[in-house]
Amino acid sequence: MPSSRIAIFPGSFDPLTNGHLDVIRRTARLFDRVIVAVLVNSEKRVVFTVDERVAMINESCAGIGQPGQVTADAFEGLLVHYAKRRGACAVVRGLRSGIDFDYERPMALMNAHLAPEIETVCVIGADRLAHISSRLVKEVVGLGGSVEGLLPDSIARRLVARLRAGKSAV
Ligand code: PNS
Repeated sequence: MPSSRIAIFPGSFDPLTNGHLDVIRRTARLFDRVIVAVLVNSEKRVVFTVDERVAMINESCAGIGQPGQVTADAFEGLLVHYAKRRGACAVVRGLRSGIDFDYERPMALMNAHLAPEIETVCVIGADRLAHISSRLVKEVVGLGGSVEGLLPDSIARRLVARLRAGKSAV
């Protein structure tokens, strides 16, 4: 039994949204440490580099829980291999709807098959944030809409600058 209970919250986070932050806050109440793990996926077209995403997550999570309780990192390969390397006992995923559940269930079962000692914990976020996704936020910004209240202000400013300049990380 590890002395501190570590949870991995994995995802693409391109970019981090207020929906993700809500799940991270809830997770920090349940675990001693939360590692927000950004997937390195060279096949996916992204707006922000992995390093930019890690930096933005660290900046946005600095005030959550105890100092240093929530940190960001990047990972490649199988999630359960990374979780074991970090000494985690759980993988946390946020659920907004039944569609999310249907997406998560096979991944949770596959991860349990690969590493039965790591539990998948699904956290249901606040209903008022259930319409937020990184994909939709990017679409709204790209088409000139307001994303106030959907993501941290500093990330929103960077996203607007990046998308309106027509740039992506790859
Ligand atoms: O935010 P996302 O894009 O829905 O996150 C998906 C993520 C990163 C959790 C998933 O793609 C993942 O775990 N990728 C790592 C590769 C892996 O472990 N695959 C087998 C598990 S089903």
